[in-house]
Amino acid sequence: MTTDGRTATAAARAALTGSPEPARLEARIDRWLPALRAALTPLYGEGASLDTLVARLIGQVRAAVAARPDALLVLDAQREVDPDWFHSSRHVGYVAYAELFGGTLTGVEERLDYLDELDVDYLHLMKVLRPREGANDGGYAIVDYGDVDPALGTRADLQHLADSLHRRGISLCLDLVINHTAREHHWAEAARQGSARHREFYLVFPDRELPDRYEASLPEVFPEMAPGNFTWEPELDAWVWTTFNTYQWDLNYANPDVFAEMLDVILDLVNVGVDVLRLDAIAFTWKRMGTNCQNQPEAHLIAQAYRALVAMAAPAVLLKAEAIVAPSDLLPYLGAHRLLRDECQLAYHNQLMVMIWAALATGDARLMTEAMAALPATPPTASWVTYLRCHDDIGWAVSDGDAARLGISGPAHRAYLAAFYRGAADGSWARGAAFSSNPEVGDERTSGTAAALAGISAARVGEADLELSVRRLLLGYGIVMGFGGIPLIYMGDELALDNDESYLADPDQAEDSRWMHRPRLDWELADRRHEPGTIEHDVFAGMRELIRARRAQPALDTGGQTFLHRYDDPAVFAWERRHPRHGRSFFIANLSDRLATVPAAAPSWAGLDVPDVVFGGGSVGNGVGGLELDPYALVWFTDRLDTTEN
Ligand code: GLC
Repeated sequence: MTTDGRTATAAARAALTGSPEPARLEARIDRWLPALRAALTPLYGEGASLDTLVARLIGQVRAAVAARPDALLVLDAQREVDPDWFHSSRHVGYVAYAELFGGTLTGVEERLDYLDELDVDYLHLMKVLRPREGANDGGYAIVDYGDVDPALGTRADLQHLADSLHRRGISLCLDLVINHTAREHHWAEAARQGSARHREFYLVFPDRELPDRYEASLPEVFPEMAPGNFTWEPELDAWVWTTFNTYQWDLNYANPDVFAEMLDVILDLVNVGVDVLRLDAIAFTWKRMGTNCQNQPEAHLIAQAYRALVAMAAPAVLLKAEAIVAPSDLLPYLGAHRLLRDECQLAYHNQLMVMIWAALATGDARLMTEAMAALPATPPTASWVTYLRCHDDIGWAVSDGDAARLGISGPAHRAYLAAFYRGAADGSWARGAAFSSNPEVGDERTSGTAAALAGISAARVGEADLELSVRRLLLGYGIVMGFGGIPLIYMGDELALDNDESYLADPDQAEDSRWMHRPRLDWELADRRHEPGTIEHDVFAGMRELIRARRAQPALDTGGQTFLHRYDDPAVFAWERRHPRHGRSFFIANLSDRLATVPAAAPSWAGLDVPDVVFGGGSVGNGVGGLELDPYALVWFTDRLDTTEN
């Protein structure tokens, strides 16, 4: 993801390389210091102790900048003069487990032509930093943030890969597992061996009194695999807070030492050349008695403080919030508070993802329209990442309020969607599975690859219609590509990979059905993308077509706004992107397996009467009642604005 040609020229780049780095750093510190102090004060108090902490943090920043490689300083300078660089519609991301994509980091590097062929320019690689041995929650239990998983290679390999990606104009995203470390991380080891300082890094309780009081309002994230939120640790002779698995110890961010140590982790990663830090489970970083201990105001302040420090140390780098929370709690991660704050530049659009699957299951897009309309406007300084699948389960985040406005019951609809996607509802084409069900609170989440959930897996064995299933998958991705934000393709979806049941044979994975949608990329199968008539070919070609259309469409730059349009036909989801610089695009999608109709005048109200592209193999025609859209068709209209006009 480079700053595109609209702003950066070779000459500008050369001039910036020679400019005085120290002056730039001082200017950045001045610029961001007030925000840093404002975020830290409610967390760690005022006065001399705050001054000492701030001095320590700024010292860390200075040391990091002094060690920052020249090529990254140039990138900093480019992106500083073009802070909107990540808003361009040219960006498209790819998300993969390094091991499943390339075997090793060198193996990933050898496959980069594939990413170029797909035409993506952002790579989120998972399970890269050294996780604990044995069960490690798919790499989210880190023993050493400064080292690479030995199964993948070395730090030098990571450095090499980061450099190669940059040479190709591809940005690298890595996880910052910020909420917890592995029980075997050296901080936790030291705590277990009696270090009083390191005991304070975690949330440790001598008896059940406080844990029981917290539990009264805490949900369980993995109720089947790891019930409860506290684990008895004999070596501490105490209970330790473990929101996720028993071996993932939550960090104590009320301790400024933890905040400062994690800053070192961040600064080390950005100097390797990480462009985007995914703040894993950021919502959980602050605990408050009597709450669900998610989305606390302090969790936002932590993100804001790191944002200020990263802006000082490495302005090329973005923060991405992994906050899979209720829609009403989502926007603040992008800085939308009572007053706008600089927080994360990117956040996952979980709500859009859930609504696409919900609409596909019912063939009815009204709830989707309702839910999208209920979301406040995205702050213009930030952007979503949009996605259809990822390495995690799908939690059916249907808000009771949105459902009630349509006269349906939230709990019943959530239960229906879970049953549908595990293939248990009438007419279901889906072949997913339940993940971490909690019958006590009526919660069931869903695992399965996009191909399995869209019907392609069932179609392969003659239990669903293949053409419709392929269209369904491409429609899902079409919405992801056109809604606004950086779209992410989850590895294997571009080849319609099926579920992989082999995890069941591995005792470290068998309990966790998320592994079914983490298949290995079989490169022989991938070769079929060049053989017309194969599913792999059709899906890969469809995906490329969507990417091509998106990248050629500046109206999809973020910084614009999304407007929803409502028509009588419940199968229709229609939205418009309006960008102050780049004009408009208009989209009409049919979320059902029947013909859908919109008034013939629907797109022409704004002069958008030329259907640019009809995706997914469907077509659009003129029927008696108006425009007719084939099952799962997505039509894309472009404003023929002459951008040279004033
Ligand atoms: C995030 C990750 C998920 C992991 C959890 C705990 O949600 O995406 O895979 O289990 O954090 O680290």
